[in-house]
Amino acid sequence: AVEVSEEVLEALRGASRVVALTGAGMSAESGVPTFRDAQSGLWEQFDPSQLATPEAWRADPPFVWAWYAWRVGLVRSVQPNPGHCALAELADLREVAVVTQNIDDLHERAGSTVLAHVHGSLLDFRCMDCGAPYDGEIEVPTEPVERLDPPTCPECQGDIRPGVVWFGEELPRAAFDDAVAALEALGPGDVCLVVGTSGIVYPAAGLPAVALSAGATVVEVNPQETDVSDMCHLHVRDTAARVLPTLVERVRSG
Ligand code: APR
Ligand code: ZN
Repeated sequence: AVEVSEEVLEALRGASRVVALTGAGMSAESGVPTFRDAQSGLWEQFDPSQLATPEAWRADPPFVWAWYAWRVGLVRSVQPNPGHCALAELADLREVAVVTQNIDDLHERAGSTVLAHVHGSLLDFRCMDCGAPYDGEIEVPTEPVERLDPPTCPECQGDIRPGVVWFGEELPRAAFDDAVAALEALGPGDVCLVVGTSGIVYPAAGLPAVALSAGATVVEVNPQETDVSDMCHLHVRDTAARVLPTLVERVRSG
């Protein structure tokens, strides 16, 4: 069984508002590799600067596009895990805001309304040149391929890119401001769940501190210690898909 302390259960039972800050570990049990995990970290195989930067794109759009197109196929092929579903159910019991660094749509497919995708969304394609949104077909390779030509923009013939935030790019201002506002609206007795993030990449990694200064109880759900562990009051050292359903069950049963 999953070990969840009475303190954590009391914190969630006593909360009226909950903000869930989620990272790649939230989707790990759906089969989506994390970035920096010891075992399967994606950034072990690829250097992020080779893939997730505007320079990498400008140097070789088909190389970068091939990787993201494969990831689109992966996300389409997996399902939300019990952790995603539990967060969606929690919204029936408490006022919940989901703020995610993840670019997948698994929270939405589990039934959550996501307040903010602070690193953008893989499925929001847009033109690299004129910025026009692109909702055309995306050719998804069935296995990782070296290069794949990105679609061209019907407006300006520019290259279509994934709507994700690359290193060195600005975060979507509205999303980040919404995330900060939700965290600042937390008060003593409310809870901020920090689920499946290593707390390494700023400014997103600074979000738990906003919950802390708002007076909320910050609870980390992560099998590992992270760079934000010391600003979390409570820690559940287990996985999202195991912990969150237990939490919601125990809150529901009162
Ligand atoms: N349940 C909960 N946590 C998990 C699980 C799981 N099943 N599996 C792994 N984790 C934890 C790891 O211990 C790690 O702390 O999830 C965290 C994943 O860390 P990262 O791979 O660094 O993911 P994340 O923190 O979301 O990365 C932030 O970096 O590459 C950029 O833009 C990308 O949004 C991403 C950002
Ligand atoms: Zn265009």
